[in-house]
Amino acid sequence: MAQDVKKRLLLSREIIDRRVKELAATLSRDYRGRDVVIVCVLKGAFMFLADLTRYLEMSYIVDFVRLASYGSSTESSGKVAVTKDIEISVEGRDVIILEDIVDTGTTLLYLRDLLKKRSPASLKICTLIDKKERRIAEIDADYVGFDLDEGFVVGYGLDFNERFRCLPSVYVIEE
Ligand code: IMP
Ligand code: MG
Repeated sequence: MAQDVKKRLLLSREIIDRRVKELAATLSRDYRGRDVVIVCVLKGAFMFLADLTRYLEMSYIVDFVRLASYGSSTESSGKVAVTKDIEISVEGRDVIILEDIVDTGTTLLYLRDLLKKRSPASLKICTLIDKKERRIAEIDADYVGFDLDEGFVVGYGLDFNERFRCLPSVYVIEE
């Protein structure tokens, strides 16, 4: 499996940057004057967070959560656990969950329900990629960078068994 993974460029660095800028403009407009907490889902959303936050023109704080959804490579099993919780209170605040990709939706549904119990003023989801084809959980992102019909993607935070995460563009793995 190691070196012979074939991949095809899907979203270039320039295209991602342009879209991230647009998302930042939308969020900055929607959240102006609010008490915002951006909850970045590790590890996948780290690069998205780093780029997005540099374009945001609003006040906000950032925290991190790490979830493990079992099944290691291209399939998720449906079992989710929090391996690192956020450390600040979201009570009465406007929360934006920042995700790399929503696939079956299992991970996000779990996180949304967990954070909802902590009484935020509002709770929305922003994802770089929305892969609706395999959605199982009843959940939709409020802000979407790109829609993806099918395939397994890597780069810009997304990994395949921890590989390719730090590539600046997004690629589709070819079977
Ligand atoms: P879900 O719970 O099935 O929606 O997906 C959970 C996680 O699986 C995502 O946050 C990603 O970390 C990972 N994942 C799903 N699809 C892909 C993909 O195409 N590439 C890389 N990671 C993925
Ligand atoms: Mg993820």
